[in-house]
Amino acid sequence: MTQTLHTPERSVTRYHPLLVALHWLLAVLIIAALAVGYFVLAPMPSTDADKIGVLKLHMAGGMVILVLMLVRFVVRLCTAKPQSLNTAKPALDRLAAVVHYAFYLLVLAMVVTGLVTAVVSGINLIVFGDTGAPLPASLTGYPSRVAHGYLAALLAALIALHVLAALYHRFVAKNKRLARMGFGRRQTSTPSST
Ligand code: HEM
Repeated sequence: MTQTLHTPERSVTRYHPLLVALHWLLAVLIIAALAVGYFVLAPMPSTDADKIGVLKLHMAGGMVILVLMLVRFVVRLCTAKPQSLNTAKPALDRLAAVVHYAFYLLVLAMVVTGLVTAVVSGINLIVFGDTGAPLPASLTGYPSRVAHGYLAALLAALIALHVLAALYHRFVAKNKRLARMGFGRRQTSTPSST
């Protein structure tokens, strides 16, 4: 009965398929939110007729990311994880752990700063309430909007670091760390497997 999600007594070679699915879905959604923010929203003047539609997509997408991230966090706590694969460099292992937790905090901070900006500037009503009011000329005077921009840069840098680390494990260290975040048989591992 308790075997359905939490199986600490068995060691597994991959993460739970729901966790794997959420990982890759969130990767796509977060990169899309960053790309829309940087390449579409930021350069778009508030007088552009399409801006409200893009903001609607970006803001709703950000909320979906938050919900999926929370679900992912719970699934991670409740499911069996593969044994930790430490490298020969303890400092790198500590960095990896910090980066993984930093993702949760950063995504949360992105959503909070985005939401605060939307509420204090009143664009939440313009975007979702169809009031017909014009968007403010610029949002850069709001500290939460400035923080949203800096946090986005930090998030993009962490994603780059995360991808480089995954490539290092796959092609330099040649271990199975990346495969653990893939679909497939999740058989019981032997203590020596990497
Ligand atoms: C993980 C979630 C999110 C990511 C990765 C993200 C990313 C971004 C990026 C990269 C920018 C442009 C930053 C710049 O050039 O300085 C931006 C702008 C913005 N985002 Fe987000 N965002 C997220 C969630 C949200 C949420 C939940 C809201 C509101 C509910 C929101 C509201 C805004 C607003 C209002 C702007 C400013 C648009 C403008 O200045 O014209 N964002 N976002």
